[in-house]
Amino acid sequence: MDTELICLDDYERQALSTLDTRYGDFFAAGADDEQTLQDNRADFKKLRFRPRMMRNVADVSLSTTILGNLISLPVGIAPTSRHKLVHHLGEEATARAAKSMGTCFCLSTYATTKAAEVAGLSGDATQWFQLYIFKDVQMAQRQIQKAKKHGFKAVVVTVDLPVVGNRRKVNGTRKANSAIDGFELPPHLRHEIIEELLGRDNSVTSKPCSHLTWKDLAMIVSASPLPVIAKGILTEEDAEQAIKAGCSAVYVSNHGGRQLDGVYSSISALPEVVKAVGGRVEVYMDGGIRTGTDVLKALALGARAVFIGRPAIYGLAVGGEKGVRRVITILRDELKLAMQLSGITDVNDIPRSLVQHESLIPRL
Ligand code: FNR
Repeated sequence: MDTELICLDDYERQALSTLDTRYGDFFAAGADDEQTLQDNRADFKKLRFRPRMMRNVADVSLSTTILGNLISLPVGIAPTSRHKLVHHLGEEATARAAKSMGTCFCLSTYATTKAAEVAGLSGDATQWFQLYIFKDVQMAQRQIQKAKKHGFKAVVVTVDLPVVGNRRKVNGTRKANSAIDGFELPPHLRHEIIEELLGRDNSVTSKPCSHLTWKDLAMIVSASPLPVIAKGILTEEDAEQAIKAGCSAVYVSNHGGRQLDGVYSSISALPEVVKAVGGRVEVYMDGGIRTGTDVLKALALGARAVFIGRPAIYGLAVGGEKGVRRVITILRDELKLAMQLSGITDVNDIPRSLVQHESLIPRL
């Protein structure tokens, strides 16, 4: 069945044609008019390659490190919520797939699987824990201690969700913005991590915390036994704030176009952030990565690694652990091919000059 699915768009089509539309809408949605959601993909197409020839590309190396941990390719799995909506093994299957492909899996605070169940299978795998700060800094600190005990190697603090963006379709009906997620899980599923943190009646307390500032993040970082990554950075100003707060890495993201509609696409924001960071910490990105050439473009613009959100969900929906593995394999093979065709042999050695914005290409 899934041998006919040869690219990530095929997985998306297949998943969305079979999923209950309430869930399909939830995963596919962007905010408001979905301009940023579309730009995340469209802006990759505005970048063109300047390949080099005759450079002996017989051997190509895709492996790299993130925060000192080896990964076999520079593509990890971004934190996304509620994997059990699409497959009964949920986050466990996604984590197993990432592990078997030798790459990073980031577990969402909104997971439908207990952290211990995912972490329990990590071995040497690079697993990160994504944290939303719900109530206060102290609760976040306790959560990071737990993540450390479970063996997660870093904490990804998502900073772009002081309130929830306006996604128009929730649970199969259109709604105006209520600034809370509003999504209702079917009765057999639980937000396992939130329940562990806040207890069963989490309807009120799991609202995002709107009063956070960089000072709070600095407090969290200073007490954290794990490196902290700030996810949701789009500007040089915030990259600077994240570094000042002590973060070990900066993660360029617009939450897959689900928060403020009209913000820069992630690939457009990346050069500004990379320039501001100036090599002081690692920079990652997500948003709209669907092909190996997208990965190569992001790496050329300075990302150390990229992450995929929806494509992993769609792989999971289509084929469980195997489906996620296949999605990563497709991206890996496409990346390798694109590198060979561009004269690149190592993901850690990609010149900025490999890509050019189409507006800078001389026209006849
Ligand atoms: C997300 N994202 C997200 N981010 C986060 O930090 N914590 C979370 O729980 C979630 N949950 C979530 C659910 C769904 C359904 C989506 C689509 C996204 C954002 C996610 O980590 C990532 O930034 C985007 O998904 C990347 O864009 P692509 O790859 O989906 O285009």
